[in-house]
Amino acid sequence: MNQLEIRSEEAGDREAIHALLLAAFDGDAEAQLVRALHTDGDVVLSFVAEREGALCGHVLFSRLHVVKDETRFPAVALAPLAVSPTDQRQGIGARLVEEAHQRLITNGETLSVVLGEPVYYGRFGYRHEDAAAFESDYQCEALQALRWGYEAPDTGRLVYAPGFGGL
Ligand SMILES: CC(C)(COP(=O)(O)OP(=O)(O)OC[C@H]1O[C@@H](n2cnc3c(N)ncnc32)[C@H](O)[C@@H]1OP(=O)(O)O)[C@@H](O)C(=O)NCCC(=O)NCCS
Repeated sequence: MNQLEIRSEEAGDREAIHALLLAAFDGDAEAQLVRALHTDGDVVLSFVAEREGALCGHVLFSRLHVVKDETRFPAVALAPLAVSPTDQRQGIGARLVEEAHQRLITNGETLSVVLGEPVYYGRFGYRHEDAAAFESDYQCEALQALRWGYEAPDTGRLVYAPGFGGL
């Protein structure tokens, strides 16, 4: 674990990230999602975990809007998060999420939304209660939100980047 580095995705990481996503998930939906988000310019933050020259984890946040009345409030969507199968349960996923959150806060983001396992994402402060009033095609117990500050809306329609339409 000593050699683990969390850093922004760089030019040249793209194929290694693609391979990591294919290894971590069943099927290629997440790998294709990441490609689409990059192609469409919807990536807000992409961090990788690297150890001894090899990528072992990746997290991506894309632009999401909360549409309410005539306003479009910019937020971020966490997806996907992946750690290579041989490197899981060593805290790499947690480091990726926590360091990404710090960067997002520094950059002025105030709301993040995730669709995932509440037991896992709850440790970072995501709560379904904070997302339960959003209108979304993905509305369910797994839809969770994390607010930094009070200005972010807690109602409105979640509009994901177009890349999610391919899922
Ligand atoms: C989910 C994932 C990113 C976690 O990464 P990780 O580096 O293994 O996670 P951490 O080491 O930070 O945390 C490990 C803890 O998370 C828990 N955990 C891991 N995956 C979990 C899941 N799907 N649901 C609930 N808990 C989970 C483990 O129980 C473990 O806790 P424990 O060791 O105390 O039992 C990784 O397992 C992964 O890539 N899975 C396949 C892809 C995926 O499902 N991604 C998430 C959906 S976008």
